[in-house]
Amino acid sequence: MNKASLDFERIYKSCPQICCFAPGRVNLIGEHTDYNGGYVFPCAINMGIYCAAAKRNDNALRFYSSEFPGDGIIEYRADDLRMKKCWADYPVSVIRSFAAFGYEMPSGADFLFSGDLPDGAGLSSSAAIEVVTGTVLRELFSVPVTNQETALIGQFAENRFIGVSCGIMDQFASAMGSKDHAILLDANTLEYSFAPLGDAAIVIVNSGVKHSLASSAYNQRRRECESAAGALKVPSLCSLSPDEFESRKMLITDDICRKRAKHAVYENKRAADAAAALLRGELDSFGALMNSSHASLRDDYEVSCEELDFLAGKAQEIPGVYGARMTGGGFGGCTVNLMERETVNSFITVIKSQYKERFGIDPEIYSVKAVNGAAICEM
Ligand code: GLA
Repeated sequence: MNKASLDFERIYKSCPQICCFAPGRVNLIGEHTDYNGGYVFPCAINMGIYCAAAKRNDNALRFYSSEFPGDGIIEYRADDLRMKKCWADYPVSVIRSFAAFGYEMPSGADFLFSGDLPDGAGLSSSAAIEVVTGTVLRELFSVPVTNQETALIGQFAENRFIGVSCGIMDQFASAMGSKDHAILLDANTLEYSFAPLGDAAIVIVNSGVKHSLASSAYNQRRRECESAAGALKVPSLCSLSPDEFESRKMLITDDICRKRAKHAVYENKRAADAAAALLRGELDSFGALMNSSHASLRDDYEVSCEELDFLAGKAQEIPGVYGARMTGGGFGGCTVNLMERETVNSFITVIKSQYKERFGIDPEIYSVKAVNGAAICEM
């Protein structure tokens, strides 16, 4: 039995009826482009969240997380799903969102979550809990939703009930990932294609830094982009090519908004170019685009921090590393590093010691694989 199912039996003193898994994601390139109608290029990773669950015959919806044992079992009534300002609001938001999408919701169920995704590290623990909840609801109560709709419901839950105006990338990657592939997603149309990762190794370094203002700063970036798009009279920034942007950018009178727009427009082009480079097997070009992406996130979008700049900068100097950049929303969290397989061990040794020496923190480092999106799994 897997850990979630074993913990379910221990906590609820009964057997689960189902277990599902939803992966976290790492974004290779295309950062802060999704809500600007542009390309993202993430992959689902072999770290994520399991959820074991069983129906109940009463009106109780009960939630337990092996990651937050101190919180105990958190209970809601099916007819009163008001937020309680705790982690269980995430799955509850998904239940409310299923109802908002017109699906009949369970009267009662027990859920147990267990996983290995670091919380708040930019690897989409929120999306994974949303998508795993959606997958469980779909399978346990035979709700006719597709994986893609599960992603959209997860995003709706986060926008409407959690209050983060996130784009679709994280939930989409968690729901739609493909083993050994990255997903090039056009966040405007939801058209997507897969690109094989080949021999390149993906290594994630967790800076261990979390910024409490990350979600308000995220929402602020989004507003700045909307204001820039309004000044340029376009529906979204990523509908512009860099040339079109250059010829019209003076219409954006606010300097900050112009910098944000510049990042979005050029990052969108970098994401499309990077996916094409990967398909041609040109890993050096791919890496160079990752490095430029980091510089743009640091200088124009201003969502990096000293620790991420240090990690990306040091990684970019190591022979065998194609490229390195911060990944996810920013303000702390992780870097993603693409390298030759033979470089992984020495990379880990060098980065660990340099980071420790500079910041006194032992960084967690994960050498990850791209995996399939959320699905039912063995109990
Ligand atoms: C967070 C959001 C995503 C995306 C990234 C930045 O992870 O959830 O939708 O906007 O930040 O690329």
